[in-house]
Amino acid sequence: MVYSDRSNRTIKKEPVILGIETSCDETAASIICGRTILSDEIASSADVQAQYGGVVPEIASRMHTDAVDTVVQRAVKNAGITFEDIDAVAVTYGAGLLGALLVGLSFAKAFALALDIPLIGVNHIRGHLAAAYLAAPDLAPPFVTLLASGGHTAVLYAESEEKFHVLGATLDDAAGEAFDKVARVLSLPYPGGPNVEKLAASGKNVIPMPEMLRGEHNYNFSYSGLKTFVVNYCHTHAQRGEEYSRADLACSFQCAALDVLVKKTVRAAREKKVQTVTAGGGVAANGYLRAALQRACEEAGLRLVLPTRRYCTDNAAMIAAEGLIQYRAGNFADLSLNAKASIPLKAEL
Ligand code: KG4
Ligand code: ZN
Repeated sequence: MVYSDRSNRTIKKEPVILGIETSCDETAASIICGRTILSDEIASSADVQAQYGGVVPEIASRMHTDAVDTVVQRAVKNAGITFEDIDAVAVTYGAGLLGALLVGLSFAKAFALALDIPLIGVNHIRGHLAAAYLAAPDLAPPFVTLLASGGHTAVLYAESEEKFHVLGATLDDAAGEAFDKVARVLSLPYPGGPNVEKLAASGKNVIPMPEMLRGEHNYNFSYSGLKTFVVNYCHTHAQRGEEYSRADLACSFQCAALDVLVKKTVRAAREKKVQTVTAGGGVAANGYLRAALQRACEEAGLRLVLPTRRYCTDNAAMIAAEGLIQYRAGNFADLSLNAKASIPLKAEL
């Protein structure tokens, strides 16, 4: 972004990036200038999707098509800038719902072409990891990151802004997936995770849960055993006509699902000899996890950089933040960039 001062000297400020995110049920657009968020707009179809008990892909695509132009216009207006101030447009190209991704991607291509600015394709997961840079603009690698979303659960080592090494990941389900399944079996409405957290708040951690690779000296996770345990617990009690506390079950599940994340993340930070831990992804919005990470990092003398809840769940500012990293590295896409439904978590990211 270029400004002129009073004596008409040109001053080049940090790059201004427009981020666009449409991978699931949120149409989001954000403007950042360097690591400062100038605006952040979200139109969610979650209320409509809740009527169906989950995300219906076609409804998501149609709602993105309705909303994307308005949301981008609002982001530009609320940032107090004009289209000409934007240096690049960063857009999620995967992973996510194909039809939903294509809406944001096609819009971003047209936008970049019309303004003759670079297009940057962003891997959604890298967006979640980049959210930490917005929470603490002074953040610098190396650090250890906990990634816990609906599709991924992993501990990573950030060697540089551009390079992450996966230290360990889930061998089966993601943590968020387990929360969503437990929500369904407890008849809680979509979205599952926040509703399990709400119910857990009135329960106690009194039901013994499976161990889930807690004791193993690696950074891997496994959620399928825990998920199956909770499903069986509900079904067995229902079949026998036995009462049980749904709140205690939610609370015991939550503790088991999240304690292991805290333990392995802090151990990774110690072993990698870093001073800082960050976290990202929808599950990092969970209050129990946030408090437990805070406590564990304090005890271990580690700095914790935790994006606010809004920037843990899907948003466009994180896409712009990753876009800024790619912009500085000169990694631009051309108009043949296509959407990807899945992007596997490789050893290096
Ligand atoms: O990062 P995200 O918004 O989307 C993906 O990229 O997957 O994560 C969504 C996941 C869902 O599984 C949702 O249930 C979970 O994050 N989640 C939570 C909470 N908020 C969202 N899980 C536990 N507690 C929460 N408060
Ligand atoms: Zn996400």
